Amino acid sequence: PFPFQQDCSMPRHTKFDLSIMAVPPTYTDLGKSARDVFTKGYGFGLIKLDLKTKSENGLEFTSTGSANTETSKVAGSLETKYKWAEHGLTFTEKWNTDNTLGTEITLEDQLAKGLKLTFDSSFSPNTGKKGGKIKTCYKCDHINLGCDVHYDINGTAIHGAAVVGYEGWLAGYQMTFEAGRNRITQSNFAVGFKTDEFQLHTNVNDGTEFGGSIYQKVNDQLETAVNLAWTAGNSNTRFGIAAKYQIDPDASFSAKVNNSSLVGLGYTQTLKPGIKLTLSALLDGKNINAGGHKLGLGLEFQA
Ligand SMILES: *[C@@H]1O[C@H](CO)[C@@H](O)[C@H](O)[C@H]1NC(C)=O
Ligand SMILES: *[C@@H]1O[C@H](CO)[C@@H](O)[C@H](O)[C@H]1NC(C)=O
Ligand SMILES: *[C@@H]1O[C@H](CO)[C@@H](O)[C@H](O)[C@H]1NC(C)=O
Repeated sequence: PFPFQQDCSMPRHTKFDLSIMAVPPTYTDLGKSARDVFTKGYGFGLIKLDLKTKSENGLEFTSTGSANTETSKVAGSLETKYKWAEHGLTFTEKWNTDNTLGTEITLEDQLAKGLKLTFDSSFSPNTGKKGGKIKTCYKCDHINLGCDVHYDINGTAIHGAAVVGYEGWLAGYQMTFEAGRNRITQSNFAVGFKTDEFQLHTNVNDGTEFGGSIYQKVNDQLETAVNLAWTAGNSNTRFGIAAKYQIDPDASFSAKVNNSSLVGLGYTQTLKPGIKLTLSALLDGKNINAGGHKLGLGLEFQA
């Protein structure tokens, strides 16, 4: 997983709003549509429960709990979010069963249009570990910039990212500078092309990890994605294909397979408004008769 989590949310696309469409996504959101087809609707080896409530005064409450069917480890988290829309402020309080407390304050579109500031701090009372992040994001037509400063027991790291976009073409650069080691520890580059129905994404991480993905929205029901990855100096290419089919407004089916012959299947059904059920299975295609398959069950309540 990539340590650099930039938090600017993607602009909400309205088909006819060209001015918004010209704002490119953040670096971490490049290739997201393809990634979503591979990851959403699955939860192998987990029994998961999500509860989301929202009150009229802008308070949102989310709690999640999950049990790993293999390790029987149970994990949970609570989050409350308060949006003070007229001042562009969002306050978030987080707690999880690893006993980490987090507070996040976001200020958006206040000091300047398109500028988002986030102050994020975390504290673990058991271990005394503290961490913090200051994130700045700025987006406008054709440009999306991010600069984050993280500090924790490992020292201070600065993450910078820039994405430029023009008529569907996107190019981005992302780097991490570790102040303690006084050097750039990560340097990633991406190029892509994006329309509503088709997205191509390619990236090189640290000059050694190569990746590419293609996303295609075939029609209103069917989305497909292909994913390729390889490492320099190693002829092993990893690849996978995935598809999501919206059966009707309440049900969808997803399937994926990769070159390790691991087959993932997922089914999501809205049982009633606000109640969603997800079933998933991971099958080892090479040993279909042997054990080692994984199942997943998820329930989501939203009010
Ligand atoms: C600090 O560095 C160690 C070793 O590189 C890593 O395992 C750990 O996750 C880092 N801690 C944080 C809070 O990033
Ligand atoms: C497929 O995936 C595995 C990783 O599980 C990799 O080692 C292997 O070389 C890959 N490529 C091909 C072409 O089989
Ligand atoms: C293949 O797919 C499975 C399940 O989606 C995943 O856990 C695994 O890491 C993938 N392997 C490779 C080499 O991409």
